[in-house]
Amino acid sequence: MLTDDQILQQIPHTLNGTNFDLGERYEGKVRDNYTFDHEGMKKRLIVVTDRLSAFDRIITTIPFKGQVLNQIAAFWFEETKDIMANHLIEFPDPNVVVGKECNALPVEMVMRGYLTGVTNTSVWHHYKNGGRDFCGNVLPDDMKKDQKFDHPILTPSTKAEHGGHDESVARENILERGVISAEDFDIMAEASRKLYERGVEVAARQGVILVDTKYEFGKDENGNIVLIDEIHTPDSSRFWFADEYQARFDAGEEQKKIDKEYLRKWLADKGFVGEGEVPEVPEDIKMETAKRYIQAFELITGKTFEAEVGDVAGRLEGNLSKYLNS
Ligand SMILES: Nc1ncnc2c1ncn2[C@@H]1O[C@H](COP(=O)(O)OP(=O)(O)OP(=O)(O)O)[C@@H](O)[C@H]1O
Ligand SMILES: [Mg+2]
Repeated sequence: MLTDDQILQQIPHTLNGTNFDLGERYEGKVRDNYTFDHEGMKKRLIVVTDRLSAFDRIITTIPFKGQVLNQIAAFWFEETKDIMANHLIEFPDPNVVVGKECNALPVEMVMRGYLTGVTNTSVWHHYKNGGRDFCGNVLPDDMKKDQKFDHPILTPSTKAEHGGHDESVARENILERGVISAEDFDIMAEASRKLYERGVEVAARQGVILVDTKYEFGKDENGNIVLIDEIHTPDSSRFWFADEYQARFDAGEEQKKIDKEYLRKWLADKGFVGEGEVPEVPEDIKMETAKRYIQAFELITGKTFEAEVGDVAGRLEGNLSKYLNS
């Protein structure tokens, strides 16, 4: 684990964004994507920046966050490649992944193991208000918050256009819309169940509960469905500490979380829940947030996080020019 001082020293060097002259650029909230031709292949270069988003807004940058996320995803792609082929080609820099450019399928596969959530679009919120049918999964009465489902449930969601909100829908509704074939949907659904099962199993060995997560798939140049985007990162998943789960559940307390809850809570305490001006995040809060991301890396992967204090943007440029000219 890096020292507090090293994390503080990294604050002025965080990676806020990139603007390379490389193919076609697409900027997400956290990642800068470049689609380009390389070695006779269409590739997607994804720069995982240090930007942190919460309440659908970009809040600030967090030291080492991009590297943490990229390397957690790398760990999981490796751990799951026997279940489903993925887009991975190479990692030219700790903050960068290069994948095969695929035709992204317009449905996100969300897998959930527990009845939970915080926002008013969450499964828990609807359940509490009497909802029992979640995308065709009918839940029993008398469940409590954070209770484990008898079986993990799939709540697919249609991908909204940039800036829009995703919508959860049952299989038959997705098929009615004609955005995906039944065959493709079922391949994704089966893979999602297996990927989630594997995720739960590997995380459990580390004392971590993989609560819920989402997968994205695409078709490669041969028409095969592969896993794209990221997998089982703290940005796409919810994790709890296993050792305290039962006691907290029995006592009706909040679960101990390994995700961006720390900064979300700080923001909410400042009165920010997505509207208006984003509060300025002080250095000690950035450091605490960074520590949580690094802890997440170490907990989930069982490895020590290794990183160097220094200018990420400069290093990145060097590594990319080496990569592109090799
Ligand atoms: N190998 C790939 N081929 C094609 N598209 C991909 C590949 N990997 C990821 N994508 C897509 O690229 C896009 C990356 O966007 P990104 O996650 O950076 O931002 P976003 O999803 O638009 O917004 P957010 O920041 O909220 O996640 C996603 O739509 C994802 O499905
Ligand atoms: Mg995304």
